[in-house]
Amino acid sequence: MRIGVIGGTGPAGQAVAVQFAGIGIEAVVGSRSEERAAEIVGELTSRWSGRELPLTPGDNAAAAGADLVVVATPWEGVLSTVTDLAEPLAGKIVVSMANALTRWGKGMVPLLPPTGSVTAAVALALPGSRVVGAFHHLPAGPWGDLDHPLDADVMVCSDVRAAAREVVGLIDTLPGLRGVDAGGLGSALAIEALTPALLEVNRRYKTHAAIKLTGLP
Ligand SMILES: NC(=O)c1ccc[n+]([C@@H]2O[C@H](COP(=O)([O-])OP(=O)(O)OC[C@H]3O[C@@H](n4cnc5c(N)ncnc54)[C@H](OP(=O)(O)O)[C@@H]3O)[C@@H](O)[C@H]2O)c1
Repeated sequence: MRIGVIGGTGPAGQAVAVQFAGIGIEAVVGSRSEERAAEIVGELTSRWSGRELPLTPGDNAAAAGADLVVVATPWEGVLSTVTDLAEPLAGKIVVSMANALTRWGKGMVPLLPPTGSVTAAVALALPGSRVVGAFHHLPAGPWGDLDHPLDADVMVCSDVRAAAREVVGLIDTLPGLRGVDAGGLGSALAIEALTPALLEVNRRYKTHAAIKLTGLP
């Protein structure tokens, strides 16, 4: 299996790519610029030189050509990006991790997309794909550190139940993480809107908070 990361040059996409590469899954780091992707793959390869990570640079179309694709652009760029790539993304699991948020005074607040969530907007834009929301709450800095696995839960939501289960299973194979099936796309609004609250926690406690749910079997 190959994972593609659209917008893979940012902190979040890099974390996704190195975590999957760290367990031996080839990850295509996608970008609007192939040169930028090559530069980032060079940096990651040199940072983790002892690990021989299977990372490949490419443009976003190359990332969309992988078997499972994660969209890791800022929310403002998600819709136009996935719409342009609808053809190569057809038939695939497409994971949206984008949070719609903005600065308000000194803090961060959620924005409400007309569709209720970014994940739902991606699902509407990609009727031929199996769209799943995941990874929204993982702080990219610590998550991108292969030497110190992040101990966190990842809430996963999708109207395509088999796809949600598949992504939960995949997340369970990543060091430190537990995938949690959080239901259909209706859950994406709350999941995405929680992120700015976590950022506010981080600001006040000078940390990188993630979430762990209690009471699960
Ligand atoms: N950072 C985190 O800790 C974190 C955690 C969980 C979820 N997320 C979510 O993950 C997404 C990425 O976060 P990030 O911090 O990595 O973001 P970022 O650094 O701002 O952007 C990621 C990459 O997206 C591409 N990009 C930027 N603007 C774009 C546009 N208008 N259209 C298409 N591509 C664009 C850029 O790559 P190229 O210039 O190379 O194309 C950029 O390197 C966000 O939606 C965020 O809400 C972030």
